[in-house]
Amino acid sequence: MAIVQSIAAPAQPVADRLGRRLRDLRISVIDNCNLRCPYCMPQSKYGEGYRFLPEGELLSFGEIERVACAFVSLGASKLRITGGEPLLRRDLPELIRTLRGIEGVEDIALTTNGLLLRRQAKALREAGLDRVTVSLDSLDDGVCGKMNGRGVAASVVLDGIAGAQAAGFAMIKVNAVIQRGVNDHIVLDLVEHFRGSDVILRFIEYMDVGTRNHWRLDEVVPSRELRDRIQAKWAMRPVEANYRGEVASRYVFEDGRGEVGFISSVTEPFCGGCTRARLSADGALYACLFASTGLDLRGPLRTGVTDEALRELVRGAWSAREDRYSELRAAPHVPGDAKVEMYKIGG
Ligand code: GTP
Ligand code: 5AD
Ligand code: SF4
Ligand code: SF4
Repeated sequence: MAIVQSIAAPAQPVADRLGRRLRDLRISVIDNCNLRCPYCMPQSKYGEGYRFLPEGELLSFGEIERVACAFVSLGASKLRITGGEPLLRRDLPELIRTLRGIEGVEDIALTTNGLLLRRQAKALREAGLDRVTVSLDSLDDGVCGKMNGRGVAASVVLDGIAGAQAAGFAMIKVNAVIQRGVNDHIVLDLVEHFRGSDVILRFIEYMDVGTRNHWRLDEVVPSRELRDRIQAKWAMRPVEANYRGEVASRYVFEDGRGEVGFISSVTEPFCGGCTRARLSADGALYACLFASTGLDLRGPLRTGVTDEALRELVRGAWSAREDRYSELRAAPHVPGDAKVEMYKIGG
């Protein structure tokens, strides 16, 4: 099928109150997930009876396209598709093809838990998806199954990664959340497994996102500690970020066998370079991963907002932005200021 270019108006860059440009839009396409990682969507709270968004409440692909065009016209050029689990959204390749057609979109990536990746990788690649990032917290089936809350073995995720490689995706990234006492003992196994492959492993510090994971600071393993442990086995040196505002700090192995990344939102916050906006599956715009409220765009979209008015809504929200939660984490917060749940805005 031919790719039709839809033209976003020429970029009119917008900066927030702290001078940060708008560059990336993370688009959640569904709130549901086929896993129940306790740090994100604990089974006890998201059991059989939990009501996820019905299809009619999700933004349609046409609505997502309009929002994406508004963002691109304000300077965004990177899109990331997230969930819940985005591969549960019906006909996702169709959305990728549409977004690929927007002039000014330079990079489209997807974050997935990998379970459905083998089946969908080829269609996603053909639709124009540039990159995939897969979440995998351990190679040990017991640990992995516990951390995904559904007993799913690591081999299923590894098979998804292999499927993506077979479909032509290069430089696949793997994100591992490390929680003290849960999987901090398997860190070197993960490094050993992916060292020398073309998969880039990144460790994420366990974060206090949402309200339901009972986060405790003593469960966070500071990236410094992980770096020291890895360094003791394989010499590494830090290297420059690939682009301004990259969330992972990169280290390459001295023996040339690739790199690892560390995403240290708790101990080394990176709000100063944060250029990311997040759109929930029901069309709310969040200025921060830890925001408590979002700006509803679905209402206006469904009541005939023009492209110009939509762009002004987004411009207004970004211009007013002063979020820097991770930098302020230690400061007292207003009680009852509930943060949005991670699975609603895809991390
Ligand atoms: P690349 O374009 O490949 O560099 O992607 P990325 O690293 O920006 O995106 P990815 O979704 O892989 O990010 C990995 C994880 O880092 C997310 O799932 C979050 O847990 C965390 N993260 C990403 N962006 C932010 C952010 O703006 N703030 C915080 N606190 N964490 C973030
Ligand atoms: N802390 C850190 N990372 C998290 N993720 C989900 N919840 C948390 C949390 N509390 C990660 C997932 C996935 C990405 C979407 O966000 O493991 O890699
Ligand atoms: Fe699903 Fe990802 Fe949340 Fe795990 S972290 S429950 S895979 S959305
Ligand atoms: Fe950006 Fe908020 Fe994360 Fe800081 S905490 S980097 S402002 S999303």
